[in-house]
Amino acid sequence: MKPFRQILTVAFAAGALLGCQKKEETLKIGLAGVQTGPDGEIGTAPIRGSQLAIDEWNAKGGVLGMKIEAVTRDDEGKANQAVAVAQELVAAGVKAVVGHFNSGCSLPASEVYHQAGIVQITPASTNPQVTERGFKQTFRMCGRDDQQGDVSAKFAFDSLKVTQVAVIHNKTAYGQGIGEVFRKTFEAKTGKVTLFDGLASEEMDFRATISAIQKSGAQAVYWGGMYNQGGPFYNQLRQAGFKGAFLGGDGIYDNELIKTVGAKADSLFITFGPDFFHSEVAKPFLAAFKKKFNQEASGYTIYGYDAANTLLQAIQKAQSTDADRISEALRSQSWKGLMGDAEFDQKGDLKKANFVIWTIRAGAFAVR
Ligand code: ALA
Repeated sequence: MKPFRQILTVAFAAGALLGCQKKEETLKIGLAGVQTGPDGEIGTAPIRGSQLAIDEWNAKGGVLGMKIEAVTRDDEGKANQAVAVAQELVAAGVKAVVGHFNSGCSLPASEVYHQAGIVQITPASTNPQVTERGFKQTFRMCGRDDQQGDVSAKFAFDSLKVTQVAVIHNKTAYGQGIGEVFRKTFEAKTGKVTLFDGLASEEMDFRATISAIQKSGAQAVYWGGMYNQGGPFYNQLRQAGFKGAFLGGDGIYDNELIKTVGAKADSLFITFGPDFFHSEVAKPFLAAFKKKFNQEASGYTIYGYDAANTLLQAIQKAQSTDADRISEALRSQSWKGLMGDAEFDQKGDLKKANFVIWTIRAGAFAVR
């Protein structure tokens, strides 16, 4: 072979090799949360939102020259499974995780990510402790229960003018935690919590609890728990003749709740983030989601979408997949998401997280 041809051949082979290596190089992002069991519907929503975001990035070439590979895991809403999933994701080599959904899962899983030095952004875990342990690489794309429980208690006392409320929870980090916040604020307003009780998260027969609620003289019920129990609990309260308001947090904001309680549900109030669904920017997102998954986006879908987009933007800004550099980048500026601008504080909480009161109107969630 002539020297010139030799050089060309070597250059071509090296180029092909490099090109080949580049193609194989992917950035693994974990998508973790509950996808099966009683919370399966609500937990799948943000995972699908994140998946859509990742697909869009990949269609534009990925990030830092790498294709993004979503490694999706189901924690079944169980703490021990969440730890197993977190360990699996670390072993799989993910550089960051969007998840988990339930606070009871994010709390133990974040210990694993913290040890491994992996960035975690939860789209939905609202228990204050998630970001109160000084983990520099833990973030959340949602508000906190000490914000939403507070909003709910003030709404009950100031707007509904009720002074006696029964607080029932599902004994989880989320449900009990938010119930306690509600109680604290409500009592500080001189309201009376007539009953504070926990139920197993698989309990579906609420008759004994309802009878205790009625005996306690409660004018309203605050439910600290999820939609899968919240819906039947609401229905059974109404069947028992209880006419007072039924209040709950983000855990009951899911399209499934409407299916269970029906379009005519009344005096049912939920704290959730501001209305995104009726904004102009929502339209293409909602259409793209429906096209990809053949279902309507649910409340938390957009949180998963914005969490993944924010994470990928931060990786791009950091020009690195190192957890410290991504975390630093995440805290360094305000991020444009579909829900608006998001800025993280030192703890990893959103600097601005508004909760508004929602209700069900004409078969759909509507801001009150
Ligand atoms: N916000 C709920 C939780 O933290 C979903 O578990």
